[in-house]
Amino acid sequence: MQSNDVKRITVIGSGQMGHQIAMLSALGGYETIIQDVRESALKDAASKLEDIMSKWVTKGKISDSQKAAAFARLQFYLDLEDAVKDADLIIEAVTEKLDVKKEVFAKLEQFAPRHTIFATNSSTIVNSLLAHVTSRPDKVVNMHFFFPPLVMDCVEVVRSEYTSEETTQIAMDVCQKMNRTAIRLEKEISGFVANRILGALQKEAVYLYEQGIADYKDIDIICRKALAHPIGPFELMDLSGLDVAKFVMEQRYQETGNPEDKPFDCVVEKVKKGELGRKTGKGWYEYSPEKVKNN
Ligand SMILES: NC(=O)c1ccc[n+]([C@@H]2O[C@H](COP(=O)([O-])OP(=O)(O)OC[C@H]3O[C@@H](n4cnc5c(N)ncnc54)[C@H](O)[C@@H]3O)[C@@H](O)[C@H]2O)c1
Repeated sequence: MQSNDVKRITVIGSGQMGHQIAMLSALGGYETIIQDVRESALKDAASKLEDIMSKWVTKGKISDSQKAAAFARLQFYLDLEDAVKDADLIIEAVTEKLDVKKEVFAKLEQFAPRHTIFATNSSTIVNSLLAHVTSRPDKVVNMHFFFPPLVMDCVEVVRSEYTSEETTQIAMDVCQKMNRTAIRLEKEISGFVANRILGALQKEAVYLYEQGIADYKDIDIICRKALAHPIGPFELMDLSGLDVAKFVMEQRYQETGNPEDKPFDCVVEKVKKGELGRKTGKGWYEYSPEKVKNN
């Protein structure tokens, strides 16, 4: 198969990531299906996308007719078999649990055509952990979009030792058609590139805070003012969720066994207290309902 042969894309999972990846696909000209096991998730996805695309039209990012054309290419399915039976590329964006993803990949193997490429959008699970539940490890790849996909212009395309050059190149070309900058990672590594660098920054920031070198607010200010980061590491933890930060560190620790990768005590403590960041109104910082709504 060549990149131009990819006409139909199915996205599995219409949560925070999936619905926006599907919209990028429809905007990129692909016949797109978005599938989820929950009808409410599909309905939510449809209404959120309507809102975002209407804002894009108001801001002049796309025309009314481009919006209409993209929605005409986008369909919502509950049934997995129907959703994947004609797909050339499937992008899986279901819950971040290995067992759930394995089950999905096994079903994809059963229902999708022989030529179909299977991509996972997982942030932590490398594709070789899923490839062996299929009989096409050469056609399995990571396409790691960033949150929120309609805003963040980067995709890490990660190949395993089994992924073919053809599959990797098709994934890269599809990202380009979706108007996203794709970067190739030639080998698998837990956390890929962006989240490893972010993790290292967070680790150092928390170390400096726990050592009493500077207050967390001042560490955020230094990162913003001296390093020109758009947001400080503690502010970013609040944005993505302290529970997420803890989960990512637990995963890494499980893989490496390195005590330095254990979740930070101060983060564990905050998660216990339900101080998860913006979503609960309190994390490192406190958020008024209006501020949470506006951000
Ligand atoms: N949220 C992020 O910041 C982010 C960033 C990059 C990558 N990711 C990755 O994207 C994936 C999805 O994350 P999310 O934040 O969108 O999760 P989410 O919880 O918002 O959405 C997951 C969706 O998958 C659906 N689902 C669960 N099991 C399913 C199944 N068997 N078949 C079909 N649908 C099923 C759920 O109903 C839900 O709608 C994860 O692998 C995650 O690691 C997330």
